Amino acid sequence: MALIAPSMLAADFLHLEKDVMLVNEHADLFHLDVMDGNFVPNISYGFPIVEAIAKKAVKPLDAHLMIVHPEKYVDRFAKAGVNMLSFHLNAADNPGEVLAQIRAAGMKPGLAINPDIPVEALFPYLDQCHYVVLMSVFAGFGGQKFIETTYERLTALKKEITRQGADCMIQVDGGVSAANAARLKDCGADILVAGSAVFKSDDPASVIAAMR
Ligand code: DX5
Ligand code: ZN
Repeated sequence: MALIAPSMLAADFLHLEKDVMLVNEHADLFHLDVMDGNFVPNISYGFPIVEAIAKKAVKPLDAHLMIVHPEKYVDRFAKAGVNMLSFHLNAADNPGEVLAQIRAAGMKPGLAINPDIPVEALFPYLDQCHYVVLMSVFAGFGGQKFIETTYERLTALKKEITRQGADCMIQVDGGVSAANAARLKDCGADILVAGSAVFKSDDPASVIAAMR
């Protein structure tokens, strides 16, 4: 079984409460994409939206930081009600310290990599991560096409987690839909993030059901 984490980047911001209720009822986690226009070319949203979602969320909040200097904002995200916090490996000078900082702030730490970073780069940190985020598109925009080499990367990552006996989940993020969910699960994915596939559909609940 994999957890389903709809990405709120694709939600209807004029009717955010409706989409929050949908996740509460049908999914497992809220995936919150925070972009700074610096680590990635795009800017998404920040604390006001995260705090608004936190007020109505009954499912845990999983924030995915695509920002430089993630260490500066760890405490703010904890205060905002975030439960799981990930940042990109190459956004931090000392990833191990930031993972420890996130844990000390009471959240579950995650480490993310883009598709052009070898999965081996994550291996030294697996025992310090609650989860790793394997990007299946380049971070920065919703609605991109799933990159097929993700399956091999996922298989290699899963193998190493098992070899190390690490208690670390794998989240796959980008271009995930009912069409590739089963294969991703077979290759070892524990959390599936889906934005467009869920919220751009006429029937988001049935897409989530199909992904399960
Ligand atoms: C990309 C984000 C993803 C994205 C997923 O930078 O990290 O979480 O919003 O959206 P879809 O499912 O549309 O690729
Ligand atoms: Zn994301």
